[in-house]
Amino acid sequence: MKRIFSGVQPTGVITLGNYIGAFRQFTTLQDEYDCIFCIVDQHAITMPQDSKELRNSIRTLAATYLATGIDPEKSTLFIQSEVPAHAQAGWMLQCISYTGELERMTQFKDKSTGKEAVSAGLLTYPPLMAGDILLYNTDIVPVGDDQKQHLELTRDLAERFNKRYGKVFTIPTIQLPKNGARIKSLQEPTKKMSKSDENKKATIRLLDTPKEIEKKIKSAVTDSEGVVAFNTESKPGVSNLLTIEASLTNESIDNLVAKYAGLGYGAFKAGVAESVINHLAPIQERFNELIDSPQLDDILDAGAEKANAIASATIKKMEDAMGLGRNRR
Ligand code: TYM
Repeated sequence: MKRIFSGVQPTGVITLGNYIGAFRQFTTLQDEYDCIFCIVDQHAITMPQDSKELRNSIRTLAATYLATGIDPEKSTLFIQSEVPAHAQAGWMLQCISYTGELERMTQFKDKSTGKEAVSAGLLTYPPLMAGDILLYNTDIVPVGDDQKQHLELTRDLAERFNKRYGKVFTIPTIQLPKNGARIKSLQEPTKKMSKSDENKKATIRLLDTPKEIEKKIKSAVTDSEGVVAFNTESKPGVSNLLTIEASLTNESIDNLVAKYAGLGYGAFKAGVAESVINHLAPIQERFNELIDSPQLDDILDAGAEKANAIASATIKKMEDAMGLGRNRR
């Protein structure tokens, strides 16, 4: 069985972009693949975090994975900082990364430009992410489009390591969702929908109430044509809403365009909002059942144990290949 690995940062809210780009892919993959999903809390601290909020966000994210359909009988779910191998692998991979290639990462540039003080961890974020993936001999990494460059670097580092020290790593491939690899902001539909957007109307959160969802979609930026058609260049706002509905309902964009033919944007937006609300309702219900349940801790304990066993075996291989430590009797 091929192996899947992916991770999500526990930084504040989880957006509809995260759901469509990541969680929705995860749940369909777990029947066919050996899936490992991670709450990457060590990635979160590359930016300043409030420690109480971070703890809460970790639990929220764990409950979200399960509420969206991750089945602990089929998939492994764990917290990155509970598996020390991630920091170990991250360090070894940092040592074969070049500062130039890390400085060229668009995420690093976006998050550091204009800032007076930037943590060293923000620069070395990609080799930590490479370690996450490579520790588990991962074949496929399902992510949204914004992680493409990090995946390319992961492949480069794996190849570099294998070439220098002998074959230790599987070279992973990226898997993007068919629809919605990059869900856009509702207010600036040329930008991605992002957790950190200061304009709250730009982002639908997975736990938004039906009223909030309806309001946000109603005020989504479109255009003045009044015709529901798909064209990401000339009609980014309308196309984004179509992509959201297509992804959640498994309808084709063409069918949706036909459904809304002749109707104005008011009816179109009401239709999209209804689809989003209906899709999220059962997820929110499961989330509320899970968030305070002790079962959540049992699942995370079992996940960490399983992940530790696989990851520590890879660390041993990496250290042997690089010549760290000593030969054991
Ligand atoms: P993060 O936490 O920012 O996002 C989690 C997942 O959501 C996807 N995503 C989107 N997809 C579509 N449209 C959007 N607007 C949108 N916004 C976010 C992301 O592509 C991602 O799949 N570096 C990663 C976390 C990570 C990781 C890993 C991922 C750490 N180690 C190993 C995979 C494998 C990140 O910051 O994702």
